[in-house]
Amino acid sequence: MKLNKRAIIFDLDGVICFTDKYHYQAWKMLADRLGIYFDERVNDRLRGVSRMASLEIILERASRQFTPEEKEVLAAEKNDSYRALLSGMSPSDLPDEVRDTLLELRRRGYLLTIGSSSKNTRFILERIGLGDFFDAVADGTDISRSKPDPEVFLVSAAKAGVAPADCAVVEDARSGIQAAKAAGMTALALFGDAKGCGLEDYDLASFADLLNIF
Ligand code: BG6
Ligand code: MG
Repeated sequence: MKLNKRAIIFDLDGVICFTDKYHYQAWKMLADRLGIYFDERVNDRLRGVSRMASLEIILERASRQFTPEEKEVLAAEKNDSYRALLSGMSPSDLPDEVRDTLLELRRRGYLLTIGSSSKNTRFILERIGLGDFFDAVADGTDISRSKPDPEVFLVSAAKAGVAPADCAVVEDARSGIQAAKAAGMTALALFGDAKGCGLEDYDLASFADLLNIF
């Protein structure tokens, strides 16, 4: 398959770099402290979902209710642990395959942008040496509705000055594939619960597989 698009919008967590393990560790620390059961299967439901929506999923198994103020404190506690883990990241956490593929896509003339629900997007991009790389970045600080709502991808396309129909999205989350389709974009699934979810336009075999379709 060959696609005729102007821009490629990348999800960040689980596509450009593997921060999922840090999200898991930070949520696990919080859940353990609260005595709430948490495992990889619950963690899978958090892909692409905002921080507060993730907390709500974790608290489904709690034995008591939490006030909105308590939830703010818990989300901040998780984010502090998560940021401490992110601080250890460096350009060596950007896989060579991802870096080389991005450089080749740029050489071929595509606009390359980010569409992530994370409010830590800019921090992560700096850590892995991509702070100034992308043509546009839309993240959790730009939106009021997280995936599966299309807002973050529409903002990313608008910032790059490209029509939604001229964009393809690379996602590892089913919620992200739903968001891409709702935005009127082509949805490419890589890893995670995006692959084989039935809503995607194409399943990528690897990150470098992008060079076969663009
Ligand atoms: C997404 C992750 O990219 O960002 C989710 O897939 C996460 O798991 C969401 O909850 C929000 O991240 P942050 O960094 O703002 O807490
Ligand atoms: Mg992701």
